[in-house]
Amino acid sequence: MRSKRFRGRIRNPYSKLPDWIYPTSIVVVFSLFIIYSTAVVLFETTGRFGPYLSPFFSPELNLRLGGFLIPPALWVAWAPLAFRLTCYYYRKAYFRGFLLHPRSCAGTDPEKRDYRGETRLWTFNNLHRYAFYATAIQTLILIYDAGIAFSYQGSFHFGLGNVIMLVNVVCLLGYTYGCHAWRHLIGGSTDCFSCHKTRFRLWRGVTVLNVNHATWAWVSMFTVWFTDIYIRLGVHGLLGHSALL
Ligand code: FES
Repeated sequence: MRSKRFRGRIRNPYSKLPDWIYPTSIVVVFSLFIIYSTAVVLFETTGRFGPYLSPFFSPELNLRLGGFLIPPALWVAWAPLAFRLTCYYYRKAYFRGFLLHPRSCAGTDPEKRDYRGETRLWTFNNLHRYAFYATAIQTLILIYDAGIAFSYQGSFHFGLGNVIMLVNVVCLLGYTYGCHAWRHLIGGSTDCFSCHKTRFRLWRGVTVLNVNHATWAWVSMFTVWFTDIYIRLGVHGLLGHSALL
């Protein structure tokens, strides 16, 4: 990662860490997550372990084409993928991490390349609002999944999986409803907050989440990842039946 593009020194006034750490961490962690999720989406046939359902497989759709089971997570993955790919925070992260372009807001680009973040190939980033609609619906389904996971084989159930699913839903809500596009929908189209008090209160609530959007983006990615790992261990018989007691 320490290429000649880092030669021009850009000091981050808020950190003493070397300036290659941030982009390198992004590339490593995002790459691992992409490899893991691609393997799950393409090669795993279920996300259900007892009452627990992986967020990769929600809603559960098992459709066959000529006897061949279409990977169920394919029906789900496009929404969070589109949402995160076009998210304002993730754009910043992958432009800086994978492309080193721009390296930072204030730094000059030694190669004098123009920034084309929302043009040409990157025009799809303008679809973020629509990806938000799809993901907002999905969060409702995940709330439902977390709720019905408290019932198993006709009686009340409580286990570690319930806690993991609940934490995941909370973090996904924190990420989804701190979205910049959502904040704009709530309050960005009015210039008279005193005329729309409810919208103003909502906008302030969204802003509380929005100021920490990058943190929610990272934390929710890890909770989705961990939730699937936990359930996948169960699916493959590595947790034992006691995990469901
Ligand atoms: S800006 Fe990040 S989710 Fe919308």
